[in-house]
Amino acid sequence: MIDEKMQEALNYQMNRELYSGYLYLAMGAYFEDQDLPGFGNWMRVQAQEELTHAMKFYDYLVQRDSRVLLAEIEKPPSEWDSPLAAFEHVYEHEQMVTGLINGLVDLAMELSDHATNNFLQWFVAEQVEEEESSSGVLQKVKLAGKSGSGLYMLDQELAQRVFNPPAASE
Ligand code: FEO
Repeated sequence: MIDEKMQEALNYQMNRELYSGYLYLAMGAYFEDQDLPGFGNWMRVQAQEELTHAMKFYDYLVQRDSRVLLAEIEKPPSEWDSPLAAFEHVYEHEQMVTGLINGLVDLAMELSDHATNNFLQWFVAEQVEEEESSSGVLQKVKLAGKSGSGLYMLDQELAQRVFNPPAASE
C-alpha cells in the first residue's frame, strides 16, 4: 500500500499517459487526412507506446495493493496548421510530461517512498528518449520545410517505425 497522495498522483499520471495516446491517435488521423501515412504510422506507434506507459502505472498500483481509478480523458485537438505545428506540439507535450514525471519523483522523495522512486526512474530515462525522438523528427520536418518532396521522403522514413513492446522485466 502506498500513501494516498502518491496513489492519487500515480492515477493522474496514468490518465495523462492515456491522454497522450489519445492525442497521438488524433495526430495520426490528421496525418492520414493529409495523405502522409508514414507520419500517421509514427503517431500510431507513439500512441501504442503511451498505452504501455499507462499500463505500467496500472500494474504498479495493482502490485502495491492500491486502487486503480480511471478518470475522464478529454477530447484532443483534431487539426493542426501544418506537420511542423503538429511536431512542435509533440515536442512541447513530451517536455510537459517530463515535468510531470519529475514532479512525481519529487513527491516520492518527499514521502520517502523509495520503491515508487525506483519505479519512476524507468520513466525518467524514457522521457529522455521521448524528448530526443520527438525533437529529432521536429528538426527533420523543419529541414523539409514546405517542400513536397522533402515531406514525401520523410514520410517514407517515418513509415518504417515499428512498435517494440517493452520487455516484461523492464
Ligand atoms: Fe508517456 Fe510520451 O510519454
